[in-house]
Amino acid sequence: MTTHRIAVLGGDGIGPEVVAEGLKVLDRLEQLEGFTTERVDYDLGGRRYLATGEVLSDATLEQLRSFDAIYLGAVGTPDVPPGIIERGLLLKVRFAFDQYVNLRPVKLYPGVDSPVAGLTPERCDLVVVRENTESVYAGAGGVLYPGTPAEVATQESVNTRHGVERVLRYAFEAARGRRGHLTLVHKTNVLTHAGGLWMRAFEEVGDADFPDVQRDYVHVDAACLYLVTQPERFDVVVTENLFGDIITDLGAAVQGGMGLAASANLDPTRRAPSMFEPVHGSAPDIVGTGRADPLAAVMSLGQLLAFLGEQGAADRVERAVAALLAERRGAVPDGVGTTTSEVGDRLVQLVAEA
Ligand code: NAI
Ligand code: MG
Repeated sequence: MTTHRIAVLGGDGIGPEVVAEGLKVLDRLEQLEGFTTERVDYDLGGRRYLATGEVLSDATLEQLRSFDAIYLGAVGTPDVPPGIIERGLLLKVRFAFDQYVNLRPVKLYPGVDSPVAGLTPERCDLVVVRENTESVYAGAGGVLYPGTPAEVATQESVNTRHGVERVLRYAFEAARGRRGHLTLVHKTNVLTHAGGLWMRAFEEVGDADFPDVQRDYVHVDAACLYLVTQPERFDVVVTENLFGDIITDLGAAVQGGMGLAASANLDPTRRAPSMFEPVHGSAPDIVGTGRADPLAAVMSLGQLLAFLGEQGAADRVERAVAALLAERRGAVPDGVGTTTSEVGDRLVQLVAEA
């Protein structure tokens, strides 16, 4: 029997609440599909930082490296200044483990109300492949004369042929496994240096190795328009880090909200573990109320299982999530009629039926 080693980082706020539901579903999937997991909990995040002054030590990072996957809830608390946990934990893991693909599906399930009037599920089923290690997130730049009227700040976008080409190849493969259509999103008309590199690599890799995949290019501003008005234009979208960050939140809104948005930070080479997390944050406003929707966390678990080769279990998650969304028809946990853990319980039943 296969055993997968999973590091569990519940994090802050509703993070541990939604991850607990994911693990409940995982327990059931193990019985159904005949695999096991060894799970180790790590207490990391804003709460832990406030208590100890430590975000993520190099020793802990090296322990994490030994796992097959990392399952993360959400990190961050209102009393920790912005940037400390994002850079010290999320970006540190992404960079150290070279998780160069950020994969975010944008799919409207039947039964979910999109804020886009008239949008139907057939018209909204795409995935965004966001480059996850370069661009302005690389941290290049600096500040001169801080706090003075002469202050200067630069934040530079780093784009390497190596980094761009590998994420393009991943996206071309993903398109090949779906409807065979790949759209590059950038701003080549203004960001001519970076955009030129991306466009050349896109054409060269496509011509040489993926002539069967249909290629398309859309400027990022137009992509925002089309994501709302014509999401059916897109099958797989590939883009640089910052544009990907922004358009995937728009995608999350179109698909019915943050409670439904899952993401995977992948090292497709599998030299280091990949990390799977709901897109939402720690939602301090609803922690402890039973109103946190665990669906995004459960969908992220589905991505984790697919990546570890447990396709049967991943398919069960997909079908159970679709069934739950169809039966609850737009309703979300309200802490009274339905709670976070009741949604988890129902999913435990549904994965068995699926
Ligand atoms: P947030 O995503 O935590 O919350 C935004 C709004 O969405 C809130 O009203 C919240 O109640 C609601 N919400 C979020 N997830 C939900 C769920 N599963 N079910 C029902 N409602 C949900 O974003 P916010 O408020 O900007 O950030 C709160 C904290 O989370 C901050 O410390 C922030 O730094 C951190 N954060 C962490 C992220 C991560 O761990 N990847 C991502 C985004 C924010
Ligand atoms: Mg974001």
